[in-house]
Amino acid sequence: MAGRLAGKTAVVTGGGAGIGQEIARRLASEGADIAVADVNPADETRELVAETGRRFFSDKVDISDQDAIHRFAARVRSELGAADILVNNAAVVLLADIDHVTLDDWRRTFAVNVDGAFLASKAFLPDLKESGSGRIVNITSSSYWTPPPPFVSYVSAKGALNGFTSVLAANLAAHNITVNGVAASLVRTAAAAANTSEAFFDQTVRIQNIKRVQMPADVSGVVAFLASDDAAFITGQIIVADGGSTRR
Ligand SMILES: NC(=O)c1ccc[n+]([C@@H]2O[C@H](COP(=O)([O-])OP(=O)(O)OC[C@H]3O[C@@H](n4cnc5c(N)ncnc54)[C@H](O)[C@@H]3O)[C@@H](O)[C@H]2O)c1
Repeated sequence: MAGRLAGKTAVVTGGGAGIGQEIARRLASEGADIAVADVNPADETRELVAETGRRFFSDKVDISDQDAIHRFAARVRSELGAADILVNNAAVVLLADIDHVTLDDWRRTFAVNVDGAFLASKAFLPDLKESGSGRIVNITSSSYWTPPPPFVSYVSAKGALNGFTSVLAANLAAHNITVNGVAASLVRTAAAAANTSEAFFDQTVRIQNIKRVQMPADVSGVVAFLASDDAAFITGQIIVADGGSTRR
């Protein structure tokens, strides 16, 4: 049986590792060709996508760089065809409270996590319009609503991304492009493990209804659904996939 995303081209920013890598693998397993923009090499993702038989293209791109993301969009178009799906996943996670966060930290977080999503959405907009059923999925975080960890720039940037999701959905509905977000809890990725402690994983599990650590596949399945025709009438929503931590 053809997958739900057969014939589609999906772009995943930050798809070289962690949740983005699993999203790329999952979208490919449902039939999409995959393009990854990452500041780091995406060789492991290339191998995972190859196992699905789908086509893959990646380039070293800093998504906060407007020219670089536009060059990337042009290359994706010539390598794989016009994009149908854009997943704004790339982010930097700077964990500092108000006493320790610097203006540079704040600006870098917003440059990647917010400007990056804005620039990628602008760069791929002609493709998504051409698609006729374009999809944008923004990866956000339940830390915006839960008892906040003291990550001033990160949580604030995710709040901005939530707002961007809402307003873009209204702007693009006339082009049959849906725009949604997926808000994850604390997900076990190498980056999350390096940035936090096992005690923080335990504390997060305690505030979830579902008493296990969230895994990247708990996010990628929701992204695949939102990217598919099954979600054609869902737009402007943040799907909170957080084990219930915001519903206790
Ligand atoms: N891991 C978690 O606990 C968690 C929880 C909620 C939300 N999220 C969100 O999920 C997404 C992925 O998180 P992750 O844990 O997989 O992180 P990660 O660090 O493992 O992956 C992020 C990827 O983005 C790339 N990247 C960073 N800056 C970039 C830039 N300027 N341009 C292009 N690529 C860049 C990195 O190289 C990396 O491959 C992020 O948006 C994050 O905020 C993560």
